[in-house]
Amino acid sequence: MCGIVGYIGNGEAYPVLIDGLKQLEYRGYDSAGIALVDGNGRLNVYKEKGKVADLEKHIADRDKSGHTGIAHTRWATHGEPGAVNAHPHVSSSGRFALVHNGIIENYAVIRENLKKKGYEFRSATDTEVLVQLIDYIASRDDADTVAVLQCALKEVVGAYAIALVDMEHPDCLYAARKSSPLVIGMKDNDFYLASDVNPIAAYTDRVVYLEDEEIASMHYGDRLRIVNLSNAECSHEVMTVSKNLGRAEKGGFGHYMLKEIFEQPDCIRDCMRGRVDPEAGTVTLSAVRDHRERLLSAGRFIIVACGTSWHAGLIGKQLFEDLCRIPVEVAYASEFRYSNPVIRSTDVVFAISQSGETADTLAAIELARSAGAFVYGICNAVGASIPRATDTGSYIHVGPEIGVASTKAFTGQVTVLAMIALDLAREKHTLDGERHAALVRELAGIPDKMREVLKTDTVIGSLSRIFTYAKNFIYLGRGYSYPVALEGALKLKEISYIHAEGYPAAEMKHGPIALIDEEMPVVIIATRNAMYGKILSNVQEIKARKGKVIAIVTEGDDVISRIADVSVEIPGTAECLDPLLATIPLQLLAYHIAVCKGKDVDRPRNLAKSVTVE
Ligand code: AGP
Ligand code: GLU
Repeated sequence: MCGIVGYIGNGEAYPVLIDGLKQLEYRGYDSAGIALVDGNGRLNVYKEKGKVADLEKHIADRDKSGHTGIAHTRWATHGEPGAVNAHPHVSSSGRFALVHNGIIENYAVIRENLKKKGYEFRSATDTEVLVQLIDYIASRDDADTVAVLQCALKEVVGAYAIALVDMEHPDCLYAARKSSPLVIGMKDNDFYLASDVNPIAAYTDRVVYLEDEEIASMHYGDRLRIVNLSNAECSHEVMTVSKNLGRAEKGGFGHYMLKEIFEQPDCIRDCMRGRVDPEAGTVTLSAVRDHRERLLSAGRFIIVACGTSWHAGLIGKQLFEDLCRIPVEVAYASEFRYSNPVIRSTDVVFAISQSGETADTLAAIELARSAGAFVYGICNAVGASIPRATDTGSYIHVGPEIGVASTKAFTGQVTVLAMIALDLAREKHTLDGERHAALVRELAGIPDKMREVLKTDTVIGSLSRIFTYAKNFIYLGRGYSYPVALEGALKLKEISYIHAEGYPAAEMKHGPIALIDEEMPVVIIATRNAMYGKILSNVQEIKARKGKVIAIVTEGDDVISRIADVSVEIPGTAECLDPLLATIPLQLLAYHIAVCKGKDVDRPRNLAKSVTVE
């Protein structure tokens, strides 16, 4: 993962770099560092364990002058988090400083070869191996920096986005990428570099997205030059990005996660704007309209995603099968890519990703496209790698999600999947007209019902205090609620570090029921739907074994709420839209438990918002 920022220009580099790092912290935050070339041609490198704020504090009184610099916020893959392993890494000769996002898979072989040539290594990272390799090639060959980089990168197996300072050419900044993103911003004589467009948008709206195996030279006072590893010039369209991408602010909430949970009614309204027409009873998505034939003639849909997005995919499967009668398979992108899957040219592959940068999902897309499948992306981050790698797609339009634990993106993804299913169902005539129109109206009313659900916040806040003691939780649901149970369990694990398992409620009796005792909280989604009677039996089974039941029930429920230890009421809705409401109390539960336990909700340990490594 990791966030990269770079700057070369007329202004001071430090404010651009530190501000950029703060915006990229979602990509990693176990350590951070900066390298600046000062006015006397000296390279000042500062690194610190922890968050960007720790680095800022650590270097408050140090010399931070300079018009050229690179910076990094890290999510360790090789070598534990700490100042030594933090980037930038400087080569033994002191000539090169490098920041890197990705993994150099053959680092061990390269390191052994370099050791034989006398190179010593200070860190345990794969990144230091790359900067030493660059140094070695530069000392061996009489070549310019770009040629040196071409030679080094040809030796490298793996993924990289890099920014490089060469102290022999301090008026130039170099960057290259393969499988990890990099964006270059341009304004007058200034160049900005970052892992995503957000740190750049405040300064300029003119950007170029670097492509795989390309090297960019940003020479002060000169034009941007991009070549590939074979030294062919690459031309790029300069894209215009919106200047008000919007800085992430907490808007009065204690954490981004809580703000994002509370934003859901507005976000889902934005997501449906111009697409759902409750009066006409229609849903229109431009991607569905533009690729109608391809979608309708598909033999099968395959959904690929990771984490929370995969949970949304499980709901998507039920929506497509239930409403459109299209067979669907759902796969973890990381498994799909290496499983030698059967992909037919008539398949449509849906790739779901909030960040649009998840490495495994990107690789699954490439595989699907190479097999001739049509790929439909469902993403949040506009212009990210996945929307650019797919044949078509629909954005979820829920705005930047900063909290590492995904909340509004999940409901946004489910909303888009529901819209696609409804749009296709009408085309396929798999729903009768009245039911279709009723579902569209119900979908349009979801934001108001979400507002009702959010009123449970106080009650959930107090019940969370009772359950902070727990070391384990079980989450149960059936049908559409089963993925909601998985998602609830994932939220709790991620931010409170309590072990939690999500299960299909009826599967309990085939094993996990052995775990139930008076200490075990069981969260059960028991809303009124076709499965209600069955879920009631499952609740009884848990109570008979003294488990503590926290039930999410439909308003007015007087059966399960009487048996459960605690119940949280949410408004009723169509069964297939229930996940949009039932997820919210589980998000709040995880949030409040984590806060009670004093955890860093927005930046949980070991995680990063965007997983751009395998
Ligand atoms: C969700 O809370 C997680 N942090 C994580 O599982 C996430 O959903 C997963 O990494 C996929 O990310 P993406 O949607 O950006 O592809
Ligand atoms: N592999 C590098 C490191 O461990 C970069 C990590 C990353 O991009 O996730 O420092």
